[in-house]
Amino acid sequence: MRSKIVAGNWKMNKNMKETEALLTELSAKLPDTKAEVMVAPTFVNLAKAVRTLETSTIEVIAQNVHFAENGAYTGEISADMLLSVGVETVIIGHSERRAYFGETDEILAKKVVTALGKGMRVMFCFGEELEDRKSGNHFNLVESQLKNALFSLDASVWSKIILAYEPVWAIGTGETASPEQAQEMHAFIRKTITEAYDATIANNVSILYGGSVKPANAEEIFSKPDVDGGLIGGASLKADDFVAIISAI
Ligand code: G3H
Repeated sequence: MRSKIVAGNWKMNKNMKETEALLTELSAKLPDTKAEVMVAPTFVNLAKAVRTLETSTIEVIAQNVHFAENGAYTGEISADMLLSVGVETVIIGHSERRAYFGETDEILAKKVVTALGKGMRVMFCFGEELEDRKSGNHFNLVESQLKNALFSLDASVWSKIILAYEPVWAIGTGETASPEQAQEMHAFIRKTITEAYDATIANNVSILYGGSVKPANAEEIFSKPDVDGGLIGGASLKADDFVAIISAI
């Protein structure tokens, strides 16, 4: 049975004091939930976040990782470094990494292999741009993103993969995919994985939706059968909003 997951991607927000304050408030207000709850603060605050959440069930995850084990990669962070501060799950392939930092499917495939090789869980993000949706190319595009980065992996590592479908046109725009659009794409993703692997793997992988999820729309989106939770940006920066979204699952 696949997990329900609500993850907050804080992106480049919150300094150390603010990180501690938000996490303290969040753990105090965390509702009883069957969902796994995760937060992704920025790199410099990961160790602090892990310490702050020592007695909490909230998992601290990273926003990115480099594909090399170590070496001359100024400004980059390795999987071992993340593990050394207690971070065992990493987001790979976020559209902002693809768009602003030139991360191609090829680079992302290498990152996925490295993180999984180190025993980490990977939250792999993908999704189409507005032009793809308008031209009806969104299914092809999503299929190729999955194929290029994930479908060469051995079936045995799929228990360590979480998927996050994030249509780029819905990220930070206030525009959300309708629950029907999300369900349609998530069902397509499961069908594509069934064809590439098998139905067991497809049915066991959690597929999150991301893109302007808020307290007002979370319940309807999460009610769809193939939507297993959300990757939340802006609304994860306020404890009350994030808690309301967690309560909606
Ligand atoms: O990683 C999260 C997504 O980019 C969604 O961001 O909720 O601010 O639209 P958003």
